[in-house]
Amino acid sequence: MRSSPTRMLRIPFALLLIASLISSCTRSFDPGQGVAIEASTTPSQAPGFIPGPTLRALAQEQGRWVGVAVAPQLIANDPVYAGLLARQFNMMTPEVAMKFEVLHPERDRYDFSGGDAILAFARAHNMAVRGHTLVWDQQLPAWLTEGQFSRDQWRTILQEHIQTVVGHYKGKLAAWDVVNEAFDDNGSLRNTVWLRNIGPEYIALAFRWAHEADPQARLFYNDNGGEGLGRKSDAIYALAQGLLQSGIPISGIGMEMHTWLDGPPKPDDLAANMQRLARLGLEVHITEMDIRTQYSTQPPAAKLADQASMYRGIFSACLAAPNCKAFVTWGLTDRYSWILAKTNQPDAPLLFDEQGLPKPAFFSIRDALMGK
Ligand code: XIL
Repeated sequence: MRSSPTRMLRIPFALLLIASLISSCTRSFDPGQGVAIEASTTPSQAPGFIPGPTLRALAQEQGRWVGVAVAPQLIANDPVYAGLLARQFNMMTPEVAMKFEVLHPERDRYDFSGGDAILAFARAHNMAVRGHTLVWDQQLPAWLTEGQFSRDQWRTILQEHIQTVVGHYKGKLAAWDVVNEAFDDNGSLRNTVWLRNIGPEYIALAFRWAHEADPQARLFYNDNGGEGLGRKSDAIYALAQGLLQSGIPISGIGMEMHTWLDGPPKPDDLAANMQRLARLGLEVHITEMDIRTQYSTQPPAAKLADQASMYRGIFSACLAAPNCKAFVTWGLTDRYSWILAKTNQPDAPLLFDEQGLPKPAFFSIRDALMGK
């Protein structure tokens, strides 16, 4: 029997439909897959509208993520913030919402509400989410830091935490920062609760447990001050190499990149570090970038111009490195930056000002993406 043309058409159409349903159910882990919200289709009076191409559309063309650290309360309550976020970025990291203290406030109770709200917004706007962070020595709940536990109990607590959290978000995140800030600047292991109570093997165990809970998850080691070359970045490199040699899955290194005007890293050192990590088969994500302006004595406009060229130097090094897949700033607008509380001084470390308007740093990054 000969198929009618309509029936022949129907089969590929059904296949296409199934394929698109499958792809809409899977994670948008490839920045190239996302559907960017184009500036041309967005009314210019929309909150947070900026004329011209969006960062996310430009980054997506190059297979990269551009993202910011976010708070679920701001997404829910500030339309300029939410509009800017969804229009310009294809990635988010919870600034606090997935930390131990928030997710696991009592020994037998978890609270995923903040993280889940971020994921819902991400899904609605076709954005990826980086999970942050499973093992850190800060923002831990009192039941843990003030509790009396044996070494075996510490191990069990960490294992349960990792497996419950990674299990909850299984298949939904683009990456996890598994271990955060484990090294001192001299390259030795920091004296954290995890080191004291479990021992140096806590790092490998954390990666192993995370992998068991979600074998597809992309697992990262994340730290600050090891972006360029030096003792700390050597220690991070050696850690990653050692994990890989022992068959423990690590996908990449998160480089926080909290810096200041005239601060580190030198773009050439950063490029060399990214390259040696690429030779290990590792990805790099710039995970928490901000540039403090408060220590410079220049006039305000000069500070912003210097900041723009520094952002551009780091961003261009990332674009030039095929393994540098994500560029994330630690906050969206200067108004809500953590630097204000941390230093108790006014500052302007991010891409958008207090009103949510783009700063020279925003345009320098966009120009870099446009090859201008
Ligand atoms: C910071 C948050 O921005 C603050 O709001 C919070 O009070 C403390 O943590 N390195 C990290 C981040 O990996 O998790 C930290 O975030 C900043 C330094």
